[in-house]
Amino acid sequence: MFKEEYPNELPMESLAKPAMGSLATSPVAMAPAGESPLAIRQRDRWFARARAAMPWGVSSNFRYWGDDETMIIARGKGAYIWDVDGKRYLDYRLGFGPVILGHAYEAVNRAVREALDDGNTFAFTNVYEIRAAERIRRLTGVDKVRFTNSGSESTMHALRIARAYTNRERFIKFEGAYHGSHDHVMWSTSDSPVETLGSRRSPIPVAATSGIPADLRKLVITLPFNDFDMLARTVRDRGHEIAAILVEPIMGNLGALMPAPGWLEFIRQLCDEHGIVMIMDEVKTGFRIAPGGAQQFFGVRADLVTYAKAIGNGFPVGAIAGKEEFMMTIEPGAVSHGGTYCGNVLAAVACDATLRVMEEEPVFETINARGTRLMAGIHQILDRYGVPHRLSGTPAMFGIFIGKKDSAAPLLDYRSASRYVDDALWAAIWQGLYARGILPDPDYEEPWFLCYALSEADVDQTLEAFEDAVKAAI
Ligand SMILES: Cc1ncc(COP(=O)(O)O)c(C=O)c1O
Repeated sequence: MFKEEYPNELPMESLAKPAMGSLATSPVAMAPAGESPLAIRQRDRWFARARAAMPWGVSSNFRYWGDDETMIIARGKGAYIWDVDGKRYLDYRLGFGPVILGHAYEAVNRAVREALDDGNTFAFTNVYEIRAAERIRRLTGVDKVRFTNSGSESTMHALRIARAYTNRERFIKFEGAYHGSHDHVMWSTSDSPVETLGSRRSPIPVAATSGIPADLRKLVITLPFNDFDMLARTVRDRGHEIAAILVEPIMGNLGALMPAPGWLEFIRQLCDEHGIVMIMDEVKTGFRIAPGGAQQFFGVRADLVTYAKAIGNGFPVGAIAGKEEFMMTIEPGAVSHGGTYCGNVLAAVACDATLRVMEEEPVFETINARGTRLMAGIHQILDRYGVPHRLSGTPAMFGIFIGKKDSAAPLLDYRSASRYVDDALWAAIWQGLYARGILPDPDYEEPWFLCYALSEADVDQTLEAFEDAVKAAI
């Protein structure tokens, strides 16, 4: 079928699988040596098919980079991915964070392959999800776990649990934070221009997309991250209406912007004082910045926690977890949580195997050592070339804010980050990295993600390419 449609096209299996060698230095040079120009056109052919079959040629809007630029990937292994033209990239996007061990990680794949012969979906509890839930408890210290299929599902259900627990409907979220694609949380994300958010003293919740019922706006209170006064005032005045404070402990969709000292503790305290449920959205930080995620890293315990991404090394699995009292709000016939695929074998085994590697191998030490060196190297290069910048986050997940010449503002929230960043200079640096086969996200708001498979040599290559890219950009 493939051959009939595109008789001149190379079958997928024959797409160049270059040996793990040196990184090429330009998109054209990255085509494997000796390959005909035909290979260069594979992406266009595939994109034409993608565009015909799927709106904009993608399964998620975030993947659309324009008709000429949207990438089509053939395979991934370890810290690398290859596009359909055989170009190799050192992957710092890692699927927006999930691939914590590396692409096609053998221990995970083997476990999944072995389990699948016994079936996948049963509409009953299976042994694999029990093992996976036990590991999550052990690593994070939560009391109870329910599986989901994605981060969006996790935050959607966590909000319902909080509302059911408190018998209140409103919740607080912070500007620039992304908590998934369901209608309740797509307000004042980093897709909403800062100019539309109103004043800091009375922020306007702005829908991140058409199609969200306007009535939901009255259920969400949006506030600037790290603004202690605004949060205190809001909770003092409206605490009795507020079911939850939904907070990303590190702003995983805003360059890994860090919480100010005491910020998470302050939220914890306000929640305790006003009977509000603290939901930590650990979809990006969970099983990435520490084995016990942000709860362990910052020493603050939430009532409910949402996981996905790194919990399954790229397999579609998520979870809601938390303290007994809050999780046991879920009650058959009274407070709903469910889903046909929740806890399916593929997801549960991937989760169990990923967490087993974390428990048995120096995953976090390795990633943190490599990430620390990478962050320090990037910082030195930017200093050397006089580029104003801030680095934020942790070694496993960090952001680079390239500043405008005159920016001195503190980086505290979405508003100040948008003012600080020199988009054009970052775009030029990113182009240089991309051309050299280094692939962070083009959007500075998306952090650089590191995986266990990333080697010291990969870090060296990245720093070399980074210096060349900065030199060329300025
Ligand atoms: C913090 C956070 N929460 C929730 C989500 C939604 O997760 P998913 O894309 O798996 O639905 C994301 C996705 O990027 C996220 O970063």
